[in-house]
Formats: sequence, C-alpha cells, structure tokens
Amino acid sequence: MNVMVIGSGGREHAIIKKIKENPNVDKIYALPGNGGIAQDAICVNIGAKEIEKQVEFAISNNIDFAIVAPDDPLVLGAVDELEKAGIKCFGPNKKAAIIEGSKVFAKNLMKKYNIPTAKYEVFSDSKEAIKYLETAPIPTVIKADGLALGKGVIIANTLEEAKKAVKTIMEDKVFGASGAKVVIEEFMEGPEVSVLTFTDGKKIIPMVSSMDHKRALDGDKGLNTGGMGTIAPNPYYTDDIAKKCMQEIFIPTIEAMNKENRTFKGCLYFGLMITKNGPKVVEYNCRFGDPETQVVLPLLETDLLNIMIATANEKLSEINVKFNNKSACCVIMASGGYPEKYETGYEINISKDIEAQIYIAGAKEKEGKLYTSGGRVLAVSTTADTLKQAIEKAYKEVEKISFKNAHYRKDIGAKCVG
Ligand code: AMP
Ligand code: GLY
Repeated sequence: MNVMVIGSGGREHAIIKKIKENPNVDKIYALPGNGGIAQDAICVNIGAKEIEKQVEFAISNNIDFAIVAPDDPLVLGAVDELEKAGIKCFGPNKKAAIIEGSKVFAKNLMKKYNIPTAKYEVFSDSKEAIKYLETAPIPTVIKADGLALGKGVIIANTLEEAKKAVKTIMEDKVFGASGAKVVIEEFMEGPEVSVLTFTDGKKIIPMVSSMDHKRALDGDKGLNTGGMGTIAPNPYYTDDIAKKCMQEIFIPTIEAMNKENRTFKGCLYFGLMITKNGPKVVEYNCRFGDPETQVVLPLLETDLLNIMIATANEKLSEINVKFNNKSACCVIMASGGYPEKYETGYEINISKDIEAQIYIAGAKEKEGKLYTSGGRVLAVSTTADTLKQAIEKAYKEVEKISFKNAHYRKDIGAKCVG
C-alpha cells in the first residue's frame, strides 16, 4: 500500500513514524516533508496548498491512501479534489473543514445547537465593533474569522488594546481576508485541555487528552506561538469532565455537523477550557494538533493507519482504539527569537545515545547533516510510567541536542505535577 502525507511539520513526522508500523505499507511520500522527515519517507517538492499537483502526483504514483494533515489544504478542499480522482483520504472535506476555517461558522454552530462556549458577537464593520467594545466587559477576546497561522486571537486587557486589535485585524488587514469579520467574545478562565478525536460522522472516539503550552516563554509569558510543548494525559481532564464533554460537546458537535449536511470525517480537535461553570469550547480544529500529536500518538496502541482507513470508510465502530496507561511529554526546541525574527541555517547535533522520539519540524538536510530552517525546529518526545518521569526524561534528552541559539521552555508540564 502506498500512502501520501500532506504537510511538513513535527505533527506530520509523528504521523509518518506511526503509520510506518503498519506491515502493509510499501511507500510513504511526504508532500513536501522536510529534511528530518526524509529519514522516514520520500519527500516530494509539492507544497501543502498545491492541490492540483497533489492530485496529479497521487494518480501517477499509485497512491492508495492520502492523509491531509494541515488546516490550509483541508479548508481549501484538498480532500474533495483527491476523492474526485478516486484517492481515499483521511481528513474532512471542505464543507466540514469550515468548522476550523471560519470562527463565525463555529460560534454560530455552537449557539444553534447549545454547545457550551464563550458568549460572543460577530462584526463585519469595524466602527460597529468598536462601538460595541465601549460596553463590553474587559478583558475581552478578539478573533479574526478565518485562518491566521494561529495568530488571529488577541486577548485585550484594556479597552484601548481591544480597539487596537479590531483596527489591526479589520482596517490594517494584517490577516488579509481572514479579518473581514471578527468575533468578539467573553474572556474565559480555567485550565485548557486539548482533546483530539477520531470520527467518521457516526462514531466519535476521543484520544488521550493533552495540554499545549502556547506562549513562547516560561510561566506562560511572551508571545503566542504554534505551541512550545505538550503533555498527555492532561490531569485536569478527569473522568467526570470527560463524560460531560462526550455528552454536552463531542456528540452534539458531530450531530450538529450532520444536521447541517457537513458530516465531519477525520480528526476533530476540541480546544476546551474547564471553567467554573463546566467545560466550554475555545476552538475547533479540523485536524491533528501540533504539538499535541507528538504526545498523543506515542501512547496509541492500535494501528494508526487502520484507524484512519476505517474512518474514511465510515467503519470506525468496528475498531477498538486503545491507548496505553503511560504518560508523555514533548518539548519543542525552537530557533531563538521565534515567533518573531529568528536566524536559521545552523547545524543540528543530535547525540547517538538519544532515547527520545525526535520529530523534525523545521530542518533541511545537506550532505547527511541537518540544519535549522524554521521557527519550531524539532520536538523531543518521551513516554514513561508517570507524567513526572516523562517530563524529567524529556529534559534529560533535550540536553543531548544542540544548535546555535536554541530556545525551549523549561517548564513544560510543570503546573501538572506540583
Ligand atoms: P484559539 O486560536 O481560538 O485556540 O485561541 C488561542 C488561545 O487564546 C487559546 O488557546 C486560549 O488560550 C486563548 N483564548 C481563546 N479564546 C479565549 C477566551 N474566550 N477566553 C480566554 N482565552 C481564550
Ligand atoms: N496546538 C494547537 C494547534 O495545533 O492548533
């Protein structure tokens, strides 16, 4: 069986390493992949958004199954085009991917179907948004409607900051067309939990819970990033909360999408906040999270490719998805300066006695050596019997990797282990 994975980050590397475990897999192609992924798959120089070329490649290389991992191609309809050409895919079609592609869609869906989330208003006119802010409770949260590389959310602690956010998004158009509309929503408080799920539109199977660390610096300080590290399972996600989420959030979301004629098949990611009034949805993503995938997949016992094929064939109810009882920790090593300006091109040295899984996100290969090429460079991922041990092990392994100006947080999971 030939498999093609669209994407180029640490998440894609983790998916590829996992599907390699399936004995029926012949060739794995990564489009475009990266210098590290090249050790586990054949990298092809076709970008994640070059859908036409992806389809051509799939046809001429006898691809049996495609995994579309990033948000952009999903929202642009890569799955629709591949399926039209007869290629089976893991991932939602364009109609369903809108759950991440438009925050206005997601919020209106939750309101219509009584799915708990922050109260909100939608604006397509900046003057009206600013007028509304005069009476809105502060802090408040301003969100660009469309995709914005994870940067379209601004938490404003003063009225001035809030007005500035609206102007930046709607008038200066820093996120382009993604900022034509904004959502202004209630500020919520509580621990955050990421729950990735497999769903074929009929059945929904939550994976082990996790916690992302989005800020660049220790103590949740600094700018928002794509994610600086993760742990799993998330201790704030108790059995009671999990039950509540299943009944009040997960199943209602799948049913809502079906009723809207937008059946979701693939990995639906629930970004949750455990508020004092119960769990609420912060965001939906139409794909695996990055770097959540780098802690969730190492704990998965069931064959990933078989789950993905069953999802595509709407036969998820026939699969018993099992995770082991261990814990995992992932520390992201980034280029100093990320998420702002940073330099690349530095050699990455990884000691031979490394005992962690290394998932490469931003590196190029040259004459057998890896050089940094992105903001997030790699993930160091470990598993152990307890979360404390997994964290200790991850930081021990981080010491075995070096590149110039490397930056990583020293407190991944710290608030979970007391
Ligand atoms: P999002 O891209 O929607 O996940 O938002 C990015 C981050 O902003 C989330 O992980 C939260 O930490 C924070 N955030 C988003 N919405 C809210 C909210 N309504 N209240 C508090 N924090 C929020
Ligand atoms: N880690 C958050 C995301 O993938 O959007």
